[in-house]
Amino acid sequence: MAKRILITSALPYINGIKHLGNLVGSMLTADVFARFNRARGHETLFLCATDEHGSTTELAALEAGQEVVTFCAEQHAAQADVCRRFGLSFDHFGRSSNPPNHRLTQHFARMLWKNGHLELRSTKQIYSNADQRFLPDRYVIGTCPHCGYPAARGDQCENCTRVLDPADLIEPRSAISGSSDLEIRDSTHLFLKQSQFVPQLREWIGSKKDWPVLVTSIANKWLDEGLHDRGITRDVAWGVPVPDDIGDGKLKGKVFYVWFDAPIEYIGAAWEWAEANGKGDEWKRWWLGEAARDVTYYEFMGKDNIPFHTVGFPVTILGVRPQEDWKLVDYLKGFNYINYYGGKFSTSQKRGVFMDTALEILPADYWRYYLIANAPEGSDSNFTWDHFAGVVNKDLADVLGNFVNRITRFCASRFDGRVPGEGEYGPEEHALIEELQRRVQTYAEHFEAIEFRKASAELRAIWAAGNEYLTRTAPWTAIKTDRPGAAAAVRMGLNLVHTFSHLAWPIIPTAARTIHETIQPVAGGGDLIPWPEAPMAEELDQLEAGQPIRAPEVLFAKITDEQIAEWTARFCGEE
Ligand code: MF3
Ligand code: ZN
Repeated sequence: MAKRILITSALPYINGIKHLGNLVGSMLTADVFARFNRARGHETLFLCATDEHGSTTELAALEAGQEVVTFCAEQHAAQADVCRRFGLSFDHFGRSSNPPNHRLTQHFARMLWKNGHLELRSTKQIYSNADQRFLPDRYVIGTCPHCGYPAARGDQCENCTRVLDPADLIEPRSAISGSSDLEIRDSTHLFLKQSQFVPQLREWIGSKKDWPVLVTSIANKWLDEGLHDRGITRDVAWGVPVPDDIGDGKLKGKVFYVWFDAPIEYIGAAWEWAEANGKGDEWKRWWLGEAARDVTYYEFMGKDNIPFHTVGFPVTILGVRPQEDWKLVDYLKGFNYINYYGGKFSTSQKRGVFMDTALEILPADYWRYYLIANAPEGSDSNFTWDHFAGVVNKDLADVLGNFVNRITRFCASRFDGRVPGEGEYGPEEHALIEELQRRVQTYAEHFEAIEFRKASAELRAIWAAGNEYLTRTAPWTAIKTDRPGAAAAVRMGLNLVHTFSHLAWPIIPTAARTIHETIQPVAGGGDLIPWPEAPMAEELDQLEAGQPIRAPEVLFAKITDEQIAEWTARFCGEE
């Protein structure tokens, strides 16, 4: 039965191209899951956007010497481009700074205010006389009291990583003007009374028996430690303005905190999608009330995002009930981190591999396959060039690529490049069909359970079963004594190539298409290669005798020792 599947990937921060850890922990895994669901014929809406607001963005624009609006527009375009080149098949890639998110964020805040979940509180903030504005913690720079680093930020010292308060800094000054003419002033802010929601959140999280332990344990830890009420406004310029009718006139010129508006952009992106595609109110069918009841909503994110999605965003949604019934997440997939030679990927130190540089050296599918097969599900995983090359060379080049090349070349040279019709499937073929029937079922089940490592391992086992079959039946030898037997094996081999392309499509869409086209063009005009739903006995006996095939060039080139050495040096790998 067709289902309705809503999928969101955590929204990448606007500043900078993301690294491979960000990619696998949200956008890529969400993409594979979206493709799997589309391949199965489910109605799927896959959304992502750039997360643009806040002081970090203002600072980054300042450092780039650009207006924040220009900075964001350029960065959004750059990220959209690299995401497309990675094959990320968002139905819409929006922006949290776009009008739908402004409207929705203000709407949610009004409803929370009306429902008594917000209150005004006075806080102490640093004010810069020279800049005539409040400074967020990150905008205050000074000497770290712990390590003496002269350019520590008020929230954290980048050098010794200690968490700081701006008041701790020695000789504090403004990051904007450099002025040390700072004072402490009172500033009124809106607080969301999260603590009231603890029992409801506990019950909700408690009911999620099938969520990853990583997710429920982080959520419960937050609830156990006691939820603090959360300030949801800030004294910065770049954000969603607080509307006049909230806060008794005490919030003029303030904006919502970026972590308040960013998750609301999940809904905003659906609205943008509808606007961009002339779909009117259809976005509400995915998000709101009775019409969205049959939608199953999945979220993908790295573990640092889990608190905001198990507590922060759910409180926003629960707080506008009972008047409005927006969807809460049904399944939350959280990921650990990928490390780079045991350390962190670092944007500022240019350490590790980023989406744009990755594509400079190899096509997207090499990365997609490697990252999905090694998704950091159970624990952090560790990237090394040797490991990466080992996986690519073995699974993609030796197992899949070699299989496709062996059988198509042999067919080209000995059967005139056409699917042979002679011979019958015998016990070897029937055993293989039975094995694949089982394995394809298991593969689908792992996807449904959102277990990427297990799914990839099963896919690899399916490819390996094909290779073993060819090794056993050895049509290149058999042809000398038993031409019909060899023909049947070649026919089976070509059917396998075709079915493999259908199975691999969610993970390696471009290579899957190339593989499919060695056999025949993909039916239908679009990008999609559907799931093989028929029993394997039919799937693996569907090619017409006499149909021409093409032997492809090398599908996956092996990574050489020289390349490993070059890339290790270029990307600061160690050892
Ligand atoms: N930009 C955040 C990060 O990269 C994720 C935001 S997800 C959303 O950690 F919930 F805010 F949308
Ligand atoms: Zn096909």
